[in-house]
Amino acid sequence: MANLKVLAICGSLREKSTNYLALKIAEKIVAETGAEVTEIKPKDLQLPIFDEDIEAVGVPEAVQKIYDQIVASDLVLIASPEYNHSLPGGLKNLIDWTSRQTNAWNNKVVAFFGASAGSFGTVRMQPHLRQILACLNAKFVSQPQVHLAFGQKAFNSDGSFVEAKNLESLKTLIFATVELANKYQ
Ligand code: FNR
Repeated sequence: MANLKVLAICGSLREKSTNYLALKIAEKIVAETGAEVTEIKPKDLQLPIFDEDIEAVGVPEAVQKIYDQIVASDLVLIASPEYNHSLPGGLKNLIDWTSRQTNAWNNKVVAFFGASAGSFGTVRMQPHLRQILACLNAKFVSQPQVHLAFGQKAFNSDGSFVEAKNLESLKTLIFATVELANKYQ
């Protein structure tokens, strides 16, 4: 079986994003299974806000780029914060754009998790993301759900988790998702 191609996406654009730290840990875990990891920084893409009028004229180059990367991947990692109890608009916009043409998320295996500043650790965002991905026929495991609470205190200065249980649950999520992706490959 060929090594999995993994695309890593952070839902936060912030330079010092705690979700980006979590994404880096997830990338390392998945790379240890032999996967090839590509990371995209949505901030660099500068995607326009989805607009069917823009789409009618022609899909922007940046949209096509991320669309092609999703299509080419076997597994997508998404680390996302919770904004107002839901997912950030930028991430929703990226998903909306790439759900067009032939939906890039169809049968795509996804592992998602998130860090937030509060005690709930994206527990209200994740059901929204799950609903959107299910609508697009993406595939994901239902357990474990990785909610990283108190994000600002959850990481050491070297980017590792303070609490071993966070690493353990992220590893369990990634390994279960790799197993799922191997079935779809
Ligand atoms: C937040 N934050 C937040 N936190 C939370 O636990 N629940 C929430 O609903 C929200 N809502 C929210 C809205 C907006 C617009 C912002 C900017 C922030 C705080 C959020 O968890 C915190 O900023 C995280 O650190 C964001 O993740 P990154 O950027 O560190 O990855």
